[in-house]
Amino acid sequence: MTDTTAPAAPVAFPQSRTCPFHPPAGYEPLRAERPLTRITLFDGREAWLVTGHATARALLADPRLSSNRDHPGFPTPTKRFAGFRNRRTALLGVDDPEHRTQRRMVVGDFTLKRAVELRPRIQQIVDERLDALIAQGPPADLVSAFALPVPSMVICALLGVPYADHDFFETQSRRLLRGPETADVMDARDRLEAYLGELIDRKRLHPGTGLLDDLVRRQPRDGEPDREDLIALALILLVAGHETTANMISLGTFTLLQHPERLAELRADPELVPAAVEELMRMLSIADGLLRIAVEDIEVAGATIRQGDGVVFATSVINRDETVYPEPDTLDWHRSARHHVAFGFGVHQCLGQNLARAELEIALRTLLDRLPGLRLAAPAEEIPFKPGDTIQGMLELPVTW
Ligand code: HEM
Repeated sequence: MTDTTAPAAPVAFPQSRTCPFHPPAGYEPLRAERPLTRITLFDGREAWLVTGHATARALLADPRLSSNRDHPGFPTPTKRFAGFRNRRTALLGVDDPEHRTQRRMVVGDFTLKRAVELRPRIQQIVDERLDALIAQGPPADLVSAFALPVPSMVICALLGVPYADHDFFETQSRRLLRGPETADVMDARDRLEAYLGELIDRKRLHPGTGLLDDLVRRQPRDGEPDREDLIALALILLVAGHETTANMISLGTFTLLQHPERLAELRADPELVPAAVEELMRMLSIADGLLRIAVEDIEVAGATIRQGDGVVFATSVINRDETVYPEPDTLDWHRSARHHVAFGFGVHQCLGQNLARAELEIALRTLLDRLPGLRLAAPAEEIPFKPGDTIQGMLELPVTW
């Protein structure tokens, strides 16, 4: 006989999505367990999973949760990241006050004002990439011809990284985020660090006009940041700056093509595009599993998170909290999606969010405008998308027009 009083085994995290724009079916029970529940990680360890919107924002702003991956017991989503400790991860992997110092060094280049100034350049890049896509098809792969090169070119221009090297750093970034084994991840990181180290050394001799050139020019002030710090900063800016936005463009386009009524609404009124970007960010929650460790006991939502406990934030579930977003599984350009946590929250909230919003708005608006007949060139269920343990997005997106 089954003992119905026995507590259910914690849900495994992460799991892969069955539909690329919905959370994995296996997370469904988590909705009933808001705002906090237990999960099992790949190695059998348990951790807390935050699933409620208010609790997520409170905890993401709580300094008793650390982002420092060197803490023993820091939650690891997959085996391949297990050997990743003892490497400098700028911004995302450090706590205040070090985090504040690093963020101050770069924040001026990621303000809303700076994103507005960059819009003409972004538009130019989007136009050029669409010209190339149109020349190559129909059909064409939207990922390799448009979704990836646009943010790659933008972040290269902003940082002062030569776009001519894009094959190299896109390939290594892909291995860094999705390499099958720890060895791939470590090797990709070594290669990227060596590349950026050489680039920084060259810039020291011949400074140009990018953000990395500015950082090199300002260095050393009281010996900070040193060469290794600069490399770590450059690495996160380069990788976070292109992979994430590329996935949002590809998955956002796929989602629109799967929602013809919403797409028609957007074509009829392009003024809705900024709201659509926000709603797509909420619905798609492509960075689904933000990681922290408790460095003190925390009483929250009737539970005690103990010092040393791992804490994971399931953004896809948090962003579908029906107390904040009625009918959360419905795409709706007229709701206020603005307070989603798809860019995180608190001190680590995405540095590039203004830039990402500008890129997404311009890319989607121009794509819809120039290709009114845009549609999938293969059955939707045959188009491959990324597994659950990495940033969500399409591996390829065959389109025609
Ligand atoms: C749509 C695209 C993007 C999404 C969904 C996204 C998502 C996120 C999320 C969820 C975080 C917080 C992680 C955490 O708290 O653990 C984050 C942080 C960060 N993002 Fe983004 N991001 C995007 C685009 C960008 C771009 C274009 C850049 C440009 C450089 C960027 C740079 C960063 C950096 C440096 C951090 C770490 C900030 C810190 O720790 O202070 N991101 N991003």
